[in-house]
Formats: sequence, C-alpha cells, structure tokens
Amino acid sequence: MSTEQLEIEGLKQQVKILTEQLMHSEKLASLGQLAAGVAHEINNPIGYVASNLGCLKEYTDSLILLIRRMSEILPIDQSHELKEKYEFDYIIEDLPTLIAQSEAGLQRVIEIIRDLKDFSHLEDAEFVEADLHSGIQSTLNIIANELKYKADLKLNLADIPLISCIPSQINQVLLNFLLNAAQAIDKRGVITINTGFDDNWVWFSVEDNGSGIEKDQLEKIFQPFFTTKDKGQGTGLGLALSRSIVDKHQGILEVKSELGIGSCFTVKLPRIR
Ligand SMILES: Nc1ncnc2c1ncn2[C@@H]1O[C@H](COP(=O)(O)OP(=O)(O)O)[C@@H](O)[C@H]1O
Ligand SMILES: [Mg+2]
Repeated sequence: MSTEQLEIEGLKQQVKILTEQLMHSEKLASLGQLAAGVAHEINNPIGYVASNLGCLKEYTDSLILLIRRMSEILPIDQSHELKEKYEFDYIIEDLPTLIAQSEAGLQRVIEIIRDLKDFSHLEDAEFVEADLHSGIQSTLNIIANELKYKADLKLNLADIPLISCIPSQINQVLLNFLLNAAQAIDKRGVITINTGFDDNWVWFSVEDNGSGIEKDQLEKIFQPFFTTKDKGQGTGLGLALSRSIVDKHQGILEVKSELGIGSCFTVKLPRIR
C-alpha cells in the first residue's frame, strides 16, 4: 500500500471509532431523556399515593378508636370473641408498621425521582440560585451505590454560600469526576469531595488516590474523545463536556495529578454579588 492509501486507511479507522463513540454518547443522552420522561410520568401518581397514605393513616386511627369505643358497650366476652375472630389485637399492632414502611418506601421513590429530574434536560436548563451541597447529595444518591465497591467516600464540606448555576449541569460535572475517580482506582481507594469559598469563588473538588495522570497527558484529557480506557468503558467525552459546562458558568476547571499518587479535579464558580 502507498503511504497515501495507508493514511486513508488510518483515517477510515479513526472515523469508525469516532462514530462508535458518538453513538455511545447519543445512547447515553437518550437514556437520560428517557429517565427524565419516566420520572416526570411517575411524579403525578406518586403525589396522590403519598397524600392518600396520609389520609389512610388518619382514617385508620379514627376507625380503631371507634371499634374500641363500641366494644366497650358490648358485653366483655362478646367483644373478646369478636376481636379474636377478626384478629383485632394483631391488626392494630401491625398497622402502624405497615404504614410507616409504606411511607419510607414512598419517600425513597420520591427521592429517586427528584434525583432523576435533577439530571433531566427537560427541566431547569436555566441559571438559578442553588445550594451546591444539595446537588452533591442528589448526585451521591444516584452513584453512591456504584462507588462503594471501589472506594470509601469522604465529604469535607464548608459552609458555602449559594451559587448561580444550572444545577443539572453542575451535577453532570460532579458525576463525571466521581466516575473517573472510581475508574482510576484499581482495587480499593478513597474519594474525597471538598467544598470551599473565598471572596471571588465557590468551589468543589473531587480527589482520588487512584492511578494519577501522566504529565504529557494532562492537556489532552480535556480534548473530546481522548480516553485511555477500553472501548465500552470510556467515550472520552466526560471532561470535554465538563469543561464546556464550566466555561458556560464562567468558572475555572483545574486539575492536579501525580502518577501513582492520585488526582484532584476542582471547579471554581463565580460568587454571586
Ligand atoms: N481521576 C482520574 N484519574 C486518572 N485519570 C483520569 C481521571 N479523570 C480523567 N482521567 C483521564 O482522562 C481521560 C479522559 O476522561 P473523560 O473525558 O472523562 O473520558 P473517559 O472517562 O470516557 O475516558 C480518561 O480516559 C483518563 O485517562
Ligand atoms: Mg469519564
């Protein structure tokens, strides 16, 4: 093959890889939209189930009182017999537990839906004043389960002021950092989320004691499609996307890393004045 042909073959190969990666990221994006749509649909029924459950709790309290009062009017052995027949003692013991468990389960579903909606592209694509810590919490609720097999998670949170941001996008950046941190850890490590502020900036960072990044790769990692991971593991889009999100927020994205020691990705966002 001539050098020209070789070059063309190389380019073809590159186009093939890029197309695959693009399809993968498209798939992820549509999965996100699907999740957001489902969350939106579930929201309504969950709302009335929650409010009905509150009513049911009050009604059953009233009914139990009513039965107690009425049984006082009946002759003792008759009321005893009826209560046994209908397992009254067992029911009033079990009922509060059943209701409490249902409430807790429902609360969990409500939290999951709230977190999914935080990631949705359908809602809140506008700048709002938001608490970074609640974004951190939502993101952790989604990903903590995945992280726990890889790392112990430490939170080092300062008493930071509100920031002006698009919360779903900032969560996306945080999620990328956390996933990268977990993927950089070979066996078991520590991931620390820090927050802080000064006169000009409010910042958060994700620190890991994973593989670290080679010096000559530090500039490349923000390029779209740059990845050191196997196919299926990485698209090379996480940090590129993160950088464009941070730019849109007029913030600063910094990385410090040492091979074999670990990495720290920091996002500084402008303080509201
Ligand atoms: N915490 C980290 N530790 C070590 N390397 C990292 C870390 N975060 C990012 N990298 C490097 O940057 C590259 C690009 O990251 P990213 O844009 O998120 O794409 P992907 O994770 O899909 O590879 C990764 O492939 C990896 O080499
Ligand atoms: Mg990544």
